[in-house]
Amino acid sequence: MTIGVFDSGIGGLTVLAEALKRLPTQNYLYMADTLHVPYGTKSKDDVRAYILESIEAMVREGLDALVVACNTATSIAITELRERYSFPIVGMEPAVKPTVEMNRLTGRRVLVFATPLTLMQSKYYALVSRVDEERIVDSLPLPELVSYCEKLEFDREIMGNYFRDKLAGYNLQDYGIVVLGCTHYPFYKNLLREMLPPHIQIVDGNAGTVKRLAALLSRYGMMDGSGIGNVRFMCSGNSPAYMDKMQRALGIYQNSDIEAQSAK
Ligand code: DGL
Repeated sequence: MTIGVFDSGIGGLTVLAEALKRLPTQNYLYMADTLHVPYGTKSKDDVRAYILESIEAMVREGLDALVVACNTATSIAITELRERYSFPIVGMEPAVKPTVEMNRLTGRRVLVFATPLTLMQSKYYALVSRVDEERIVDSLPLPELVSYCEKLEFDREIMGNYFRDKLAGYNLQDYGIVVLGCTHYPFYKNLLREMLPPHIQIVDGNAGTVKRLAALLSRYGMMDGSGIGNVRFMCSGNSPAYMDKMQRALGIYQNSDIEAQSAK
């Protein structure tokens, strides 16, 4: 049994880390589309083609289930992927619905961080229109953040200045929740925790995604994984340096002890 985990780059490792914690007896194949990361600043048509090509490469290795551990890729291609393949597929979308509900009683607003491409899609627009009756959701594209993350740029001063600059126009007292709507962003959760006022909760969809994966695996009778949490990495371009970077980045994330607040 092999569970595929796909992202444009190292972002999906934050989901893989959660899967390794919750489903340790599965085996995983992690794929990063190194040649084309970042997706979030490219055109929808280009990104769609990159995703289909990458998933085909994973399928050739043999997959029993797939997690599209990328909000951008999910918003562009999840329907098409589900039409193409018969194995179970879990996608991700910014955790707008649960956070709007969580915030209803506080009277505070929700701020969603995501890539420009995710925020431009009709899927995101439809999601917000459906659940945000009281118009409490604001969306902030962070076009540079995936590239910083891919460079493993975790310097507190550089990244602190970056976030301060992006948040300069916002009165943070108005907000109760920040949603990390891109799987790269949890790498910055500790820094954001220090920077944001303590009343703001930081929420990502990783734990919720792994719960959905577990539910699907049980429905398909695949819960009793006979694996040992083995992870095989692959990337477009087959760069040994990038393979090494993925290993390191997974270690950095696992050791950063960032406990994600789960969106259900
Ligand atoms: N991790 C991807 C996401 O969740 C980043 C996409 C990108 O490469 O810009 O949206």
